[in-house]
Amino acid sequence: MKVSRPALLACLAIAETSAERTFPSRHVVRQYSVSNRGNNSVASIFGSNGTFSIKGTTTAPGVIVLDYGRDVEGHPTFEVVSATGDTSCLEITYSETETVLDGFYMSDGPLALAAAMDTYRVNQYNVTGPSLHTNRLIQGGFRYQKLNLSTPGELVLKNVGVKPTIPTMSLDQLPGHFETSDEDLNRIWKVGARTIQLNDIPANSIPSFWQISSEGALVESQAPQVLSGLVAATLMQYRLAFEVKPTVKGFGFSVLADTLNSGIYISCNIANGSVSAYFGSGEDGVPLGSGTLPSNVTLGVWHEVAATVNMTNIAVSIDGLSVLQFVQTSAFVGSFGLGASFGHAAIFRNLSATKLTGEEIYSASLMDETFFDDFLIGTNPADSTVDGSKRDRIAYAGDLDIALISSLASTNGVNYIKGTLDLLGSFQLTPGFFAPTAKIQQDPLSTPIETNLTGLIGYSFNLLTAAANFYKRTGDADIPKEWAPKAVRMLDWAHSQVLPENGLLNISDATFGGDWNYYDPAQVGVVSKFNMVYAYALQECIPLFADGGVDTQPYVARLVSLRAAITKNLWSDELTAYYVSESIQNGFGQDSNALAILAGVTTSSHTSFSILNTLQKLSMPNGPLAFSEGATTSGFAKYISPYASAYHLRAAFESKDSDSAMALLKSLWAPMANPQGVNYTGCFWETLDASGAPGLGKQTSLCHAWASGPTGELSEHVLGVKAVAPGYSEWRVDPLTLGLDWAKGKIPVPMGEISVAWNATDGVIRAMEVSSPQGTMGTVVLPCSGQGSTLKVNGRVVSDNGSFPVTGGEPFVLSYDL
Ligand SMILES: *[C@@H]1O[C@H](CO)[C@@H](O)[C@H](O)[C@H]1NC(C)=O
Ligand SMILES: *[C@@H]1O[C@H](CO)[C@@H](O)[C@H](O)[C@H]1NC(C)=O
Ligand SMILES: *[C@@H]1O[C@H](CO)[C@@H](O)[C@H](O)[C@H]1NC(C)=O
Ligand SMILES: *[C@@H]1O[C@H](CO)[C@@H](O)[C@H](O)[C@H]1NC(C)=O
Ligand SMILES: *[C@@H]1O[C@H](CO)[C@@H](O)[C@H](O)[C@H]1NC(C)=O
Ligand SMILES: *[C@@H]1O[C@H](CO)[C@@H](O)[C@H](O)[C@H]1NC(C)=O
Ligand SMILES: *[C@@H]1O[C@H](CO)[C@@H](O)[C@H](O)[C@H]1NC(C)=O
Ligand SMILES: *[C@@H]1O[C@H](CO)[C@@H](O)[C@H](O)[C@H]1NC(C)=O
Ligand SMILES: *[C@@H]1O[C@H](CO)[C@@H](O)[C@H](O)[C@H]1NC(C)=O
Ligand SMILES: *[C@@H]1O[C@H](CO)[C@@H](O)[C@H](O)[C@H]1NC(C)=O
Ligand SMILES: *[C@@H]1O[C@H](CO)[C@@H](O)[C@H](O)[C@H]1NC(C)=O
Ligand SMILES: *[C@@H]1O[C@H](CO)[C@@H](O)[C@H](O)[C@H]1NC(C)=O
Repeated sequence: MKVSRPALLACLAIAETSAERTFPSRHVVRQYSVSNRGNNSVASIFGSNGTFSIKGTTTAPGVIVLDYGRDVEGHPTFEVVSATGDTSCLEITYSETETVLDGFYMSDGPLALAAAMDTYRVNQYNVTGPSLHTNRLIQGGFRYQKLNLSTPGELVLKNVGVKPTIPTMSLDQLPGHFETSDEDLNRIWKVGARTIQLNDIPANSIPSFWQISSEGALVESQAPQVLSGLVAATLMQYRLAFEVKPTVKGFGFSVLADTLNSGIYISCNIANGSVSAYFGSGEDGVPLGSGTLPSNVTLGVWHEVAATVNMTNIAVSIDGLSVLQFVQTSAFVGSFGLGASFGHAAIFRNLSATKLTGEEIYSASLMDETFFDDFLIGTNPADSTVDGSKRDRIAYAGDLDIALISSLASTNGVNYIKGTLDLLGSFQLTPGFFAPTAKIQQDPLSTPIETNLTGLIGYSFNLLTAAANFYKRTGDADIPKEWAPKAVRMLDWAHSQVLPENGLLNISDATFGGDWNYYDPAQVGVVSKFNMVYAYALQECIPLFADGGVDTQPYVARLVSLRAAITKNLWSDELTAYYVSESIQNGFGQDSNALAILAGVTTSSHTSFSILNTLQKLSMPNGPLAFSEGATTSGFAKYISPYASAYHLRAAFESKDSDSAMALLKSLWAPMANPQGVNYTGCFWETLDASGAPGLGKQTSLCHAWASGPTGELSEHVLGVKAVAPGYSEWRVDPLTLGLDWAKGKIPVPMGEISVAWNATDGVIRAMEVSSPQGTMGTVVLPCSGQGSTLKVNGRVVSDNGSFPVTGGEPFVLSYDL
């Protein structure tokens, strides 16, 4: 049997539940305010800071929806001024969109993937009198909050809001700035910066997922989080034993589960005397079997639970009595965890896992916090950047590659990027490639992981490009020291997979061949995308190698021959593009062709211009599809990807193709950045369907860092500020006007900031000012020369050669006198 190791794969199953319901009557309060109570660390954002009452009757619940106007996150908080009658069932529900809030009882949850936020988007409160409630766990990104009092009583509430855990600096105060004569672009830049902010998780801001008491570990309405580590991830046969005292309704646990907690979930519902198994991460999974609990399995007393897992065969006993036995073929390998279904709570102690032959695999008393690290349910030790505010609060290498450029241009989140690079960089596997993802509740690993399978191989190349791009912009001297050896191992592995007959990278194992589009078929053999990211990583790592003491010559030679091999073998004259793969030659991808341009895989016959022209065929009113029709007939989904489009946008800018850049910005990103949009969150979305709506159902992340690309690209190409030497010790200002009348802004650099302002007429810059820090040097390049006019720099007439050296710290004021 071929068994993949899901622990190292980053596949998300988006399980749609059928629990669709509509709720007719309610009162929408459309007000929001940010109130700083004179305490920066805990300034709450209130959905309503006024006092309001909510009244449930025997026939209808009282329902109020608060709209924060854009995504917020943090610890929900509210004050009860008074409670009369029966107020034992207040439910508060969170959602990024109103449609999903209205359409599903569970809203856009549950979100079981990691312990970095509450599993459920519904919180239940039994209110007994005046009180202040602040949730222990974080609710990730939400714009709407529904309060529902379904018992006959009345609550008077005030200060209903959230205490953010992320940086909340006003977008006008950020270290970076960008403004032009085009309001769409200004909004896009800010929405990208806000997306970055919401995905920056400060060190130690995530609360412990579980609570320890004198009796053991308390778990309430929380998906099981699996025991981490390679050994646990590869388990197929084991016996799990623990003691549990259910306190409310029941308890649950998982076996054969992957790192994202999807596997076999078993829920004991003492309230109705049943035990049920599901494939997935909770009760919203696919049912696999059920049984009856003996009547003496009750709340409030300790029970001994044992589960024997023999791959397909699973048997569960409670207090020595068999309660459930079933055979399944949904999961064959994976770890285990303990949890509690929605509305359930239980205390656990004395957990052990042993091989079927009796040897111990793991044991913990669960009486103190020392086991938190084993399940990654403690806090996050470093500043880190994740890919989604709601889903997923986990670090991913591919997402980082896009997010970091926007972060450095706006929030200047150097520590967040560094923390994430350190973590992901430590997940290098023996052969040289990396795991594509890492939960942020852990320190970097101290030794490489001894295994030789990974998923999403493209992300291993993205990670190198990210490190190189970080170095270019920060000049952080540790990066070449730490990353050159890592990059050598990864790139040497890639070289070992190059086929001698055609010089191309071959993916021989399908386990490796997934990509950011996890819902599309994995690609094996010679795949254009993987060759393009390989070439791009080689190209970007060469300066890093030079500064890290690695002989660049072999890598330069490999890059030259890889480019030639790609050009020779993967181009389709019919498509005027690089095709998807040797097995799909009648379709092309947006990302692979954009990366071809970025990696210099262009020739006089396959120019950037011709590729960008072909990519226009992907255009839809709300942005380009990620794959052409030939690929969609081979099973690729018809989605619009802000991630793939970020590389497209960069390629358009680097090719100085204003029309393509503007088309992408206006069709794809401008509608998401428009506050009038039905699903506006003030952030950019993970994926869109062909009509421009959230693409992946109710759990689509509407605040996804990989979608933030334009912020960095606009700063680097419209202001035009680029690092020439690491850390901008040498820089270049080379703006592309995009036909705008003016632009101004600044980007933070290690020695200060570089600010640029220009005015243009008919796309020709007529005046420009640049200021830069002392100790740097730069060049200002004009996009067009002002024929027949007199050019002055700092008031002095200069000869017009379109390129001007500047000493950092000195003014540069350019004007044309017509
Ligand atoms: C309010 O809560 C009750 C109890 O959970 C539920 O049955 C009802 O559907 C909820 N109503 C709305 C509008 O959410
Ligand atoms: C301000 O924050 C500190 C640290 O979190 C906290 O101890 C203090 O109570 C807060 N003060 C107010 C007025 O909220
Ligand atoms: C919140 O309180 C502030 C000051 O106390 C007030 O100016 C603002 O109007 C209030 N906002 C809401 C939404 O009630
Ligand atoms: C609510 O709390 C009160 C006081 O602790 C308790 O008596 C009551 O049973 C609880 N109600 C529910 C529905 O949990
Ligand atoms: C018990 O409740 C669960 C939901 O928690 C449900 O799936 C199951 O069908 C119920 N079983 C019985 C016997 O009512
Ligand atoms: C429940 O009853 C069974 C026998 O029917 C017994 O073996 C088991 O120990 C009892 N459990 C408890 C918690 O009393
Ligand atoms: C596990 O399953 C295998 C294959 O069905 C079987 O041979 C073996 O006896 C089982 N082991 C245990 C301990 O049940
Ligand atoms: C189980 O927990 C109890 C209470 O903490 C303890 O006394 C006992 O030694 C534990 N048993 C095992 C086998 O760990
Ligand atoms: C991984 O290692 C195993 C055991 O050493 C070996 O059998 C297998 O061929 C290796 N696979 C790859 C893809 O290198
Ligand atoms: C290239 O990849 C294909 C597809 O998986 C595989 O069948 C083939 O063996 C690989 N070739 C080499 C030389 O590894
Ligand atoms: C808004 O989002 C909802 C939920 O994903 C979707 O059904 C709807 O089509 C979207 N509307 C627009 C205009 O994008
Ligand atoms: C651009 O024009 C505006 C309005 O005339 C002026 O205030 C600004 O200083 C000009 N910027 C530059 C760089 O000359």
